[in-house]
Amino acid sequence: SRNLGILTSGGDCPGLNAAIRGVCKPAINRFDFQAIGFRDGFRGLMQDRTLRLEDELLSGILTQGGTILGTSRDKPNKMPVGDQVLDMTNVMVETYDRHHLDALICLGGGGTQKNAKLLMDKGLNVITLPKTIDNDVGLTDITFGFDTALEIATDAIDKLHSTATSHHRIIVVEIMGHRAGWLALGAGVAGGADVVLIPEIPYDLERVAEAIKKRTKSGKRFSIVAVAEGAMSTKEHAEFAAAKKRKQEAPDKETKQKIKAELASLDRARGDHTVHLTHLLEELVGMEARLTILGHLQRGGTPSAADRLLATQLGTKAAECLNEEQFGVMIAARGHDAVPVPLTEVAGNRKLVPLDHPWLETARRVGTCLGDESA
Ligand code: F6P
Repeated sequence: SRNLGILTSGGDCPGLNAAIRGVCKPAINRFDFQAIGFRDGFRGLMQDRTLRLEDELLSGILTQGGTILGTSRDKPNKMPVGDQVLDMTNVMVETYDRHHLDALICLGGGGTQKNAKLLMDKGLNVITLPKTIDNDVGLTDITFGFDTALEIATDAIDKLHSTATSHHRIIVVEIMGHRAGWLALGAGVAGGADVVLIPEIPYDLERVAEAIKKRTKSGKRFSIVAVAEGAMSTKEHAEFAAAKKRKQEAPDKETKQKIKAELASLDRARGDHTVHLTHLLEELVGMEARLTILGHLQRGGTPSAADRLLATQLGTKAAECLNEEQFGVMIAARGHDAVPVPLTEVAGNRKLVPLDHPWLETARRVGTCLGDESA
């Protein structure tokens, strides 16, 4: 029989277990593969820590959040080993060969697609699936995990409404999404947030304050402000853009490293960005404000029906590709279909919210302040 290896990498999300099941059930039962899972992402592949995936283990996991395999954010080419950071891709190739694998299935977000491509470049047969609550993977309509997180964030906005109304407060709610605004925008529109701030649209706080004051004048004595964790003011955005440009134009490696460190410290300085934002709004508007950070709640719990369906569909399609020896692909969601797309085109291709996206237009039409001139 043939052998497959499977791993989950990057931040976990609901739907990973449904996808593992979706890949392994048909691979084992229809295509006669033996399946092993590597624990904790690429680290488990490096250390050869495995789990035999048989029918029994795959039973009952469809509805479970998280990943039965465990995950980590470790990268094959920048792996912390002791006090060093090393390129361990060749060690991973050795593990692959030791288990006589015919293919490696990697479930992950944008980072994982890049990491899987590194292994593909070393000659491994790789198939990937797009998972992340951030929905920021290129070439796929949607990633699994997003729908569940969207539901959680929307539910939080619903709940914050009643307390904001009772206390006549501004409630700022920070929503995950890394550098993309899909989750904040989706939940903001679905939950009827009054202000939605996303990384793709640098915001002007004065405009946000004005929009809230306008609401007060019209008799609405509370406001919900949904902020994506990656959102930036116009000033912050200009600083980042300038540093990025300098990095691109850097004459040598040393200067590039220096600017990289500068970018990282700008990022760190933004650590409590939403805390500042809440204080500033309180001052500018003259109304009590509170902050809620939804954090990892957004990644926990049972996957929604839509995510189970998507993860199962993409997973079973991956098993078909495996059987047909179609490698070097990510299984993308396109309309109602699951379609293999070249991994070379996916790796490094981050999907942000396009400025002409219908959800943005919808938000504007319904009167949501996006922090820009449309406010
Ligand atoms: O990529 C998923 C995500 O939840 C992002 O939305 C967030 O920026 C990040 O992971 C948080 O990472 P960690 O779980 O390592 O704190």
